[in-house]
Amino acid sequence: MYSEKVMDHFQNPRNVGEIENASGVGTVGNAKCGDIMRIYLDIDENQIIRDVKFKTFGCGAAVATSSMATELVKGKNIQEAMQITNKAVAEALDGLPPIKMHCSLLAEEAIHAALWDYAQKHGITIEGLKKPKSDIHEGEEAEDEEY
Ligand code: FES
Repeated sequence: MYSEKVMDHFQNPRNVGEIENASGVGTVGNAKCGDIMRIYLDIDENQIIRDVKFKTFGCGAAVATSSMATELVKGKNIQEAMQITNKAVAEALDGLPPIKMHCSLLAEEAIHAALWDYAQKHGITIEGLKKPKSDIHEGEEAEDEEY
């Protein structure tokens, strides 16, 4: 049911932990399943994501997608990080079962929430970034229909 990459990132998740004095922190949850994810970003003066860590209290797919998402954003600038969608994360993992696609949204939304926090702290706007929801379950039905 799961690809080898999903199993690998679930069993050996990359970038687990916290960053003290992070440039941005984002937490999102899905009230439907009760899973929660927090992302910490360390962003340098050139707006490059120098380091990223995550904590996920959630299902295996949520752990694997957060792990892959952190790998994908590390070393990118904040505009590039905005392009990393949950679909890109799922593709990098060689796919997710359709019923688990919503889990990958946690990672995308948590990154956006951390970027939002960074933007707020620095008084900047990031193109295409909207105020994050703290619960991705809102409006999820509409998004589910895409898969
Ligand atoms: Fe909740 Fe996967 S079941 S994030």
